This record gives sequence, structure tokens and C-alpha cells, in this order.
Amino acid sequence: MTTIPVKDEWKAHTKVDEATYEAWYKKSVEDPEGFWAEHAKRLDWVKEPTKIKNVNYMYPDVSIKWFEDGELNVCYNCVDRHLEKRGDQTAILWEKDEPGDAETISFKQLHARVQKFANVLKELGINKGDRVVIYLPMIPEAAISMLACARIGAVHSVVFAGFSSDALADRINGSGAKLVITADEAPRGGRNTPLKANADKGLAKCEDSVKCLVVQRTGGDVAWNEGRDFWLHEVSEKVGDECPCETMNAEDPLFILYTSGSTGKPKGVVHTSGGYLVYASFTHEVIFDYKDGDIYWCTADVGWVTGHSYIVYGPLANGATTLVFEGTPAYPSASRFWDVCETHKVNQFYTAPTAIRALMGKGDSFVEGKDLSSIKILGTVGEPINPEAWNWYYRVVGKERCPVVDTWWQTETGGVLITPLPGAHALKPGLASKPFFGVQPVMLEPESGKVIETTEAEGVLAIKDSWPGQMRTVFGDHERFMNTYFQQYKGYYFSGDGARRDADGYWQITGRVDDVINVSGHRMGTAEIESALVAHEKVSEAAVVGFPHDLKGQGIYCYVTLMSGTEPSDALREELIKHVRGEIGPFAKPDAIQFAPDLPKTRSGKIMRRILRKIAENDTGSLGDTSTLADPSVVDDLIANRQSAS
Ligand code: WT7
Repeated sequence: MTTIPVKDEWKAHTKVDEATYEAWYKKSVEDPEGFWAEHAKRLDWVKEPTKIKNVNYMYPDVSIKWFEDGELNVCYNCVDRHLEKRGDQTAILWEKDEPGDAETISFKQLHARVQKFANVLKELGINKGDRVVIYLPMIPEAAISMLACARIGAVHSVVFAGFSSDALADRINGSGAKLVITADEAPRGGRNTPLKANADKGLAKCEDSVKCLVVQRTGGDVAWNEGRDFWLHEVSEKVGDECPCETMNAEDPLFILYTSGSTGKPKGVVHTSGGYLVYASFTHEVIFDYKDGDIYWCTADVGWVTGHSYIVYGPLANGATTLVFEGTPAYPSASRFWDVCETHKVNQFYTAPTAIRALMGKGDSFVEGKDLSSIKILGTVGEPINPEAWNWYYRVVGKERCPVVDTWWQTETGGVLITPLPGAHALKPGLASKPFFGVQPVMLEPESGKVIETTEAEGVLAIKDSWPGQMRTVFGDHERFMNTYFQQYKGYYFSGDGARRDADGYWQITGRVDDVINVSGHRMGTAEIESALVAHEKVSEAAVVGFPHDLKGQGIYCYVTLMSGTEPSDALREELIKHVRGEIGPFAKPDAIQFAPDLPKTRSGKIMRRILRKIAENDTGSLGDTSTLADPSVVDDLIANRQSAS
């Protein structure tokens, strides 16, 4: 295993060197109240908190509160407080899908646009505590609408524009939203997605009272539902320019973000105001070594938590220039990322392993010759990064000049929990490395739940004690929150990930140990894909597993049992693939569908997924014990008809 020691240049410009890390980390776990009281001061509070931490991790009474008597407004902290010092500095740098005509929005302009937008929300009847679904492409209004909600105390729930109309409807209904914000069309990779048309289909499955606010992005034709639909530019003309910030309690919800789990429908992860913003802004500053004046770019979509914490809230709370990118890494060519870095002199670049692997596959020529000397830090997030991709990123993109921060976290955690800090930690390719301040990872034995004390070990990853950015509940279902994260291993937050720890105490995250799969950084429950499949009239039963995929990290392998009398065919296979895409979204497209007359079940009727995983992985030599199956011969048929994945 190669180790890259901290270079002197990295130490020179960082705020947190190794000694500082050790001292701060010690303080953060020995005196969390003192540590976080101090770091809460990075925000502007209407009323400074005096009660710092109030946490019960013990099932079935889990309750998490930070800064509970504090009052603040998140939008004020991300916009208004910067006006005096950096009103004319660019807050949002918008790189459109088509290269060449980027737009800049200064903090002053952002302030004006957010206030207008907030008044539009009020005009449409949105009040403090109401939920608003945001279904937008990567345009400035995505960030502006989030901030406008925060300004008036409305709770946003952003739905990734790649989700289908059915998934959108589930989220509108699940959150009880009164309003959906969308755009006429979403340009991406040179093609326009009819976003308003998708929203119309979703809204058809919702209460008639749900309104729809439409941003004009392309000017393309849209169907119009008079009385329900409103153009942003039209309502904007009617409302005032100024909108005061609502004073919120630190524990008032800021947003809901739906994410997939191992069972049931996606859960509405709830994040609150004070702790979330302290954690997002602090991690953004320290992990990316962010300095005043830096141009910071995270390539994620605001539809995912990465976009919330590290495109919008963290960077803007720190007064950063945050780049909002509408396009894709491959359009118009595989040099797009590097062209954007060169043109805008990007200082921090944060992307996903799946993008790195795809670009690595195109060859070095797309990077060579680009001036990437402005970049100081390279970051990755979303899935385990294989050492080959890590090394390519470090050597070919970073020219061995920039530390790579492999940041492990989750929708639930609000911000990064495990990462190397540039300037403090030697780097090991593929290892997320060390806990952030206040984070106490523990390795548990999966079966017994015992804490593994040996340094070099493998097990499941759990976290002892809370940090301010942690999710507080599942929207409308606190039981589900406790059952999912706190029931299996009492006294700990269970991440759902497996991990290894090396002799130096460095953490490596190996991937999910539950029925969640990660395809190109998109998180999905196998149960969701199964329920999409069985919703098809010709399918009687389905079992879905992940398998290793060179580019996507994991691929989707589906075993499908058809209704009796239905014949398997390639046409039906295509139809089912299309069906799943339609039910969930294009990113959930199955890579392989195997028609299976029977699935391997125990005598009590439980599907043995372990066996299905092995077959999908083509690792049939080590199927393990199949004698407990009701009908062991099922396995031979499955092996004989294994599909090679696309
Ligand atoms: C799951 C969370 C956190 C924002 C994006 C994903 C996997 C995430 C890493 C990493 C290995 C990672 C985990 C985690 N994951 N980052 N650096 N190394 N695995 O958020 O959709 O909530 O998914 O992504 O499996 O549990 P998410």
C-alpha cells in the first residue's frame, strides 16, 4: 500500500496541521459542548445558544438536539451577512450546459433575487413550516429557491430532476408539499428534458390544491393548467423587492431529503437549521482548506445531499464563490470538467469516483495541456474509490501537487464524517482515513454487535455519539428513524456500511452491508427496484442484487419470475428495463434481467440473496451452504441461465 506523506506546501497553507488536528480532535470528543459552543460562533445568531448538546442515543428513546435555545436564519447566514464585506463578489458562478456563456451572480444580486423569490412563495400562500418540493435542473434558481424557503422558514424537499414523475409524486405526497417548483425544460448534455411535462404527470397523482411554480429556462412549449401553474417571472412582477428573514429556532427543520433504505419506500431525512449549518460550513472550510476569494466547484446535483451541503449551504455560509454546473462531464467532450476548471480558475474541485473512472477511461489526452494550476484540493465522494482511479486523479489531474480528500458521509450525516485533512494526514489511495472533529467511529462485529478494539480489523461501521449535522428524524415517522439506525446496535448510530481499519487506524469504507446499492453514486434500495418490477403486469416475483461494475461501481442485476403462461423474450426484457426507468428514473436502469422460473428460498419462504449475489458476481464456486433451501435444484437452473450484464 502506497502512502503519500503530507507535503510541505500542503502544510504551509492549511489551518489544521497534524498537531492542531490531534489537539482539536481530543478536545472535540472529551468536551463536545465546549468544542461546538466555540465553533457555533462561526454563524451569526439572532440569539446565541447556551444549551449546546442534548442527545439520547439509547433505543427506543432516541432524541437529538443541538443548540436548542439558539435562534438564527440560515438564509441570512448564507447571503445577508456577506453583503457588507463582499457584496460585489460572485456568490454563484453558473456554468450552463452549453459552454461559453457563464453567468455570475454577486452576493448583492443573490440577496435581491432570493428576496424576490421569497415574496413569490408568500404570494402563492407558503408560510413558515410549509413544505415546498423543488424539481429543478442545475440553474441558479435551484439554490435561490432553497435559500428563499430558508428565509421564510418553509421546509424544502429537493427532488433530483432525473427522478421520474412517479417518484416525484411520492415525494410531494410524502412531504405534504403545497407547492412544486420546476422549469419548462432541463438542458443537459446537449439534450432538453421536458421537466414541466414530467411534473404535470406527477402532479396528476397529487391533491388538486398543490400549486406549480415554473421557471422559464429554455422557452420551450409547455402545457398549462390555469389556476394551478404560475410563471416565476410573472408572479415576480407583482411582488415587492424586500423580504425580511424569519427568526428560526436552531432545531426548526431546514429541509427534507428523500433517500433509499434497505426496506420500504424512500425515507424523508430531516435536517434542522443550526447544527446542520454549523457542521456544513465548518467541514467545508477545513476539509477543502477554503480561503477567502477561492473559487470552489462541487460537480454534484442539488438533488442530492452533496449539493445541499457542499454547493449551497456550506460554501455560501463561508462567503465562497460556488460554481453551479448544469452540464455533464462528457459534453461536448471529455475535457469539459478541465475546461471549466481552467476557464474559471477553480481552486477546489469535488466530484464522484464514477466520473473519475469514466474520464480515466477516455484517456489522459483530455486532461493534458489544460492549465489546472489553480486547483489546490481534489475531493471525491459518493462511493468507494478504487486505488487506480485515485492514483489517476492524483497524478494526471492533480500532477501530484494537490491532496485528494476521499470524504465518507451520507444523506443522514449532513456533512463529511471521515476524510483525510489536507495538511494533517498522509494520504492512502482508497482510504477515507480519519474522523472529522467530534466524530467517533467504531468498528462492530456484525453478528454480536461487540466493539472491535484491535486496530487492524474489519467489521461494520457505527458512530458513537452525535455530531451537530446529524439527521434528527424521518419525516412523520420517528419510529422508523429509530428502528433503522439505532435498534440493531444499541447506543450507536449504524451507518449500513462495512469498513476496514489498518494498522495506522486509517478507515477504509468497503460498501453497504444492507440491501442498498450504489450505482454511479446514486443510492437505491433493491426493494424499490423489486417493487417497480412486480408492478408490471407480467411479473409475479422479482429479486434484485448489486454486482461489481467497472465504471458504475455497482450494477443492477434482476431475477424475474413471470406470471404463469407468460413466455420470456428479449422484447419483454427490454420492456421491463423501460418500465423500471419509468417508475424510478433513468439511473435505475437494470444492467441484466434474468428470467427465473423459481427463486432460491428457505423453507420459510425467505429469498436467499447471498446466493443471488454470488451468481450475479459470477462467483459460483463459493455459493456456500445451499442445503437449507426448500429446493436446492433451483440454483443449478439459475447458474445455467446467468446473464452477462450490459
Ligand atoms: C452512501 C451514502 C454523502 C454524499 C453522497 C452519497 C457511500 C459515500 C463514500 C466514500 C466509500 C462512500 C456509502 C454511504 N459513500 N461516500 N468516500 N467512500 N463509500 O450520499 O446517497 O446518502 O449515500 O454512499 O455507502 O453509506 P448517500
